[in-house]
Amino acid sequence: MSTDGLLDEFVAAIETRLDILLPNASEHSKELVEGMRYAVLNGGKRLRGSLVCATSYTLSGSYERALNSACALECMHAYSLVHDDLPVMDDADLRRGQPSCHKVFGPAMATLVGDALQPLAFNLVLNSDDIPSEKRLEIAKVLSNAAGWQGMVGGQAWDIQLTTNTTLSVEELRRLHAAKTGEFFLAAVEIGRIIGEERQDDEVIAGLRRFGEYLGEAFQVVDDVIDCSQSSDTTGKPVGQDARLGKQTFPVLLGMNEATSYAHELLGNALGELEQLHFAESVLADVAKRCVERIN
Ligand code: IPE
Ligand code: IPE
Ligand code: MG
Ligand code: MG
Ligand code: MG
Repeated sequence: MSTDGLLDEFVAAIETRLDILLPNASEHSKELVEGMRYAVLNGGKRLRGSLVCATSYTLSGSYERALNSACALECMHAYSLVHDDLPVMDDADLRRGQPSCHKVFGPAMATLVGDALQPLAFNLVLNSDDIPSEKRLEIAKVLSNAAGWQGMVGGQAWDIQLTTNTTLSVEELRRLHAAKTGEFFLAAVEIGRIIGEERQDDEVIAGLRRFGEYLGEAFQVVDDVIDCSQSSDTTGKPVGQDARLGKQTFPVLLGMNEATSYAHELLGNALGELEQLHFAESVLADVAKRCVERIN
């Protein structure tokens, strides 16, 4: 079955739903709500949300019930970007081709914007009335594990603690990437599976997990490669940041050519997992290719 246009349909549906789900007014702070809308609705490739929809669609033939959870993950991701850009973190002035949230709303309000997006994400999941309550709980658990101290925040903490004097081994860098970035990709696949699958099939669970792990790593390797090879007109964010901040990245450890090949190898592994599950022609493969095609 052709998947032409399906991925773009997911992105458009996520945009529309986010616009509806994000708050419009607050009796406490207009700025906070404006900041939340700015941080989430200012573009973005919607890869994690699309992955939620794609997994649900591949397993069940529909993605509508996955949309709220896809939006929840996008809110969680947007919060991570707002905080990542803060002067006390990466100090980045540009995000998605526009001034970063703290450049528009100030660092204190941007911190609160991120803080408010996290509970909103859980709220969206827990209020998804079209999903059975035990599945909502499972999704909330996946989201909390992926975002918390053992997931994204843990990885970000490790990332900021590294100084220019430290050199990580390839294995350590893989673990750092898996935490700060990979966990959200893995969560996207898990959440889509929880929504899309009626019966729990161990082979599908394990295969999709490996797919998510390969894809998450590939995505961050691509992000690192792009940071030292493309212009900020293309990326929509400052480039050369990693070198400026002395970050440990795959281009630093392996060199550009090898890091690029490594990203392609990881994509191949991810697609290989789909093949094993007979999902090679599915929209999941389209998402995977979109994650890596930026360095083609
Ligand atoms: C950027 O992610 C943050 C990383 C984990 C590297 P994306 O490149 O997916 O950001 P948006 O959502 O498309 O802006
Ligand atoms: C950040 O990684 C990953 C997050 C958890 C937000 P980066 O610092 O490389 O992300 P960009 O390049 O600023 O988007
Ligand atoms: Mg960072
Ligand atoms: Mg950054
Ligand atoms: Mg980066």
